[in-house]
Amino acid sequence: MTEYSTIITEIPADYSRVGLIRLNRPKALNAFNSTLMQELAGALNDFDADEDIGAIVITGSERAFAAGADIKDMTGASPVDMLQREHLSLFDKIRGVKKPVIAAVSGWALGGGSELAMSCDMIVASENARFGQPEINLGIIPGAGGTQRLTRAVGKALAMEVILNDRTLTAQEALNYGLVNRVMPIELYLEEALKLAAEVAARAPIAIRLAKEAVNQAYETFLREGVADERRAFYFLFSTEDQKEGMQAFIEKRPPEWKGK
Ligand code: CAA
Repeated sequence: MTEYSTIITEIPADYSRVGLIRLNRPKALNAFNSTLMQELAGALNDFDADEDIGAIVITGSERAFAAGADIKDMTGASPVDMLQREHLSLFDKIRGVKKPVIAAVSGWALGGGSELAMSCDMIVASENARFGQPEINLGIIPGAGGTQRLTRAVGKALAMEVILNDRTLTAQEALNYGLVNRVMPIELYLEEALKLAAEVAARAPIAIRLAKEAVNQAYETFLREGVADERRAFYFLFSTEDQKEGMQAFIEKRPPEWKGK
């Protein structure tokens, strides 16, 4: 495993085909500085390229998933500084990961931290998770997709309150609005995320990749275009060995053996 200074990566023994990334700047509540952004992008890239990994979990600590971009780094920055640092391109990187990515969120998920969680494909939250976009308190607005993703997830009225008036969402509220998949007691949220990741990682790899792409299309395209893309992916899957195996296994009443081919 590569040694990092702001994240820790591991392949947990009890969860097959799962890569785990822990954000690890505890003194700054996992705020994103340049190093963390680069290391996180690198680790995602490595797990995405690793044939033995089928899904990725990103987590923080019990106190904070991440408190957003590092404010101390940004205080005196000019627009050109911000552009050149390319911090926000990490979020494009996450969108580009082909394998499913699950956020295991406990404590604060604020600003870029909330945007990171929302950029993942699923979120498992602990009971003490809090989601918010407090950028307005700093005289700025969310810069990593928060205005778009939060609004699509919770609707305009609540998104306005969160983004314009620093209203934080409890884990239970996030669940009620469909922002997170499930809420677990704090001692179980990471285990639950790893379990979910292992379940998804055991499924037919090509179908999982195209299914993820197709669901994400729903966010980014008009309905007609999204449905047409979905249909093309559906037809394409009939060229894979996994489709033949999956259907044959059903008929023979046995579990399928996926090859990712
Ligand atoms: N950047 C840099 N340092 C941060 C930080 C951040 N985003 N959030 C917390 N820290 C640091 C604090 O400065 C503090 O460090 P020191 O001990 O050296 O003073 C340490 O983490 C612990 O924080 P607190 O003492 O404030 O802990 P708390 O429990 O009282 O409060 C908190 C926790 C509510 C998360 C509070 O720290 C806070 O409001 N943080 C800022 C959150 C924020 O505004 N995030 C948005 C950033 S902008 C952004 O993300 C833009 C974007 O869209 C990409």
